[in-house]
Amino acid sequence: MNVRVVAIGGTVNPGSTTESALRYATRPLIEAGVQVSVFGGEYINALPHYRGAGYLPETGKELVAAVREADGILIAAPGYHGTVSGLVKNALDYLEDLARDDRPYLHGRAVGLIATAYGDQAAMGTLLTLRNIIHALRGWPTPMGVTARTYEGLFSPEGECLDDRIRMQLTLVGEQVLQGARAWSKAAAA
Ligand SMILES: Cc1cc2nc3c(=O)[nH]c(=O)nc-3n(C[C@H](O)[C@H](O)[C@H](O)COP(=O)(O)O)c2cc1C
Repeated sequence: MNVRVVAIGGTVNPGSTTESALRYATRPLIEAGVQVSVFGGEYINALPHYRGAGYLPETGKELVAAVREADGILIAAPGYHGTVSGLVKNALDYLEDLARDDRPYLHGRAVGLIATAYGDQAAMGTLLTLRNIIHALRGWPTPMGVTARTYEGLFSPEGECLDDRIRMQLTLVGEQVLQGARAWSKAAAA
């Protein structure tokens, strides 16, 4: 069974803790042999506003094609002014291209969510907004949603998560996306 997962998220900052959290959460998937495609800060920062200035019909096609084939999704967004950053929201706007698919938007995909912020309030607000977005896109949010208070040194240069609570959350959301993606992949093959 060929299980595929797409990970989307990060910020414009090199060494983004949001992207580090996203990549950490992919570990259980990679260990299980799942094919994981990561669209991190560098990729989403290069996307023009969806259907805005500089946008061409082929813009973002790799992201859209990967999500189209995926059984599971991981999304990580920082809380900016209490909610999902514009950069991540713009990347999610590209999923409008899936509207007319047989599996529209995120239908039939397990979706794990990660929200980062300096404070708990923005992390929680961002997580809840992400979950609303996923419901709107007909995705299946995993029970675990990660709220991570970020700070310099949260991740080692090798990508190890140095906070027990956040490490456990990230591992759990990755494991739950694995379970959900396997289930959806099996259902699609039946
Ligand atoms: C424009 C902007 C707005 C932000 N607003 C908030 C906020 O309202 N609450 C908060 O706790 N952190 C806020 N932050 C901090 C980010 O959430 C934090 O930088 C992010 O989670 C981690 O960024 P990184 O992935 O680049 O390391 C803000 C940061 C920026 C740049």
